[in-house]
Amino acid sequence: MATVFIIGATGGVGRRLGPLLLQSGHTVIGLHRKPEQAGELAASGVAPVHGDIIEMDPKQIADAAKGADVIVFSAGAAGSGVDRTTAIDGDGPLKVIEAPQLLGISRLYLVSAFPEAGRQAEPVAKFEHYMSEKKRADVAVASSDLDWVILRPGLLLSDEGTGTATMGPAIINNSVARGTVARTLLALIEQPSVRREIVELTDGPTPIKEAVAALRQS
Ligand SMILES: NC(=O)c1ccc[n+]([C@@H]2O[C@H](COP(=O)([O-])OP(=O)(O)OC[C@H]3O[C@@H](n4cnc5c(N)ncnc54)[C@H](OP(=O)(O)O)[C@@H]3O)[C@@H](O)[C@H]2O)c1
Repeated sequence: MATVFIIGATGGVGRRLGPLLLQSGHTVIGLHRKPEQAGELAASGVAPVHGDIIEMDPKQIADAAKGADVIVFSAGAAGSGVDRTTAIDGDGPLKVIEAPQLLGISRLYLVSAFPEAGRQAEPVAKFEHYMSEKKRADVAVASSDLDWVILRPGLLLSDEGTGTATMGPAIINNSVARGTVARTLLALIEQPSVRREIVELTDGPTPIKEAVAALRQS
């Protein structure tokens, strides 16, 4: 069983992932930036740790994650401003890369974005910035020595999903339920042989565990 530190534990994906991990017998530590979120996390069984990823340096991130063997980065600025997008979606993972080394662990799961997202629409500067910051983070994580998985979901929908999905190194762009993203993260965490892979993810017909097993490296 793993101890998983979730950055973004209170978000649409993170607040679904915590309970799924707990139900499967894992231990969960959740980073939250607003003091009032501690009670809700604790009530769900997630150990709350207070911190703002914009302010934290790698040592503080490592301190917050103490005891974890796995780190999940699912935080995001969520359109709250260009500078916050740079600081959270771009700089955040770059700082987080250093934490596993300080802790003597190696496993990092980064929730990124589908590269073709928004291609059908007229370009909007702040969305282009968001996508380039996501890519900047992907490049840094993929260049690290960690046992990383970069998960690139399509447009996120606020529903639970059906337990099925389509995933692979290159798939057709589509939307995906936040519940499906959370279940895919759970399945990936439970399949550590999938490592150093970029996985695109959309809603689809394949049972999630089966789809993750098909990614498994020999
Ligand atoms: N929206 C889409 O269609 C889409 C598509 C593909 C990928 N993604 C990516 O998928 C990931 C998960 O999405 P989501 O829907 O779960 O996002 P979300 O609901 O907006 O949650 C974002 C999380 O990040 C946390 N956060 C924000 N700023 C922070 C800070 N300064 N320090 C610490 N935590 C901070 C939030 O905390 P609070 O509760 O305090 O706000 C929340 O827990 C994000 O990385 C997002 O960019 C999104």
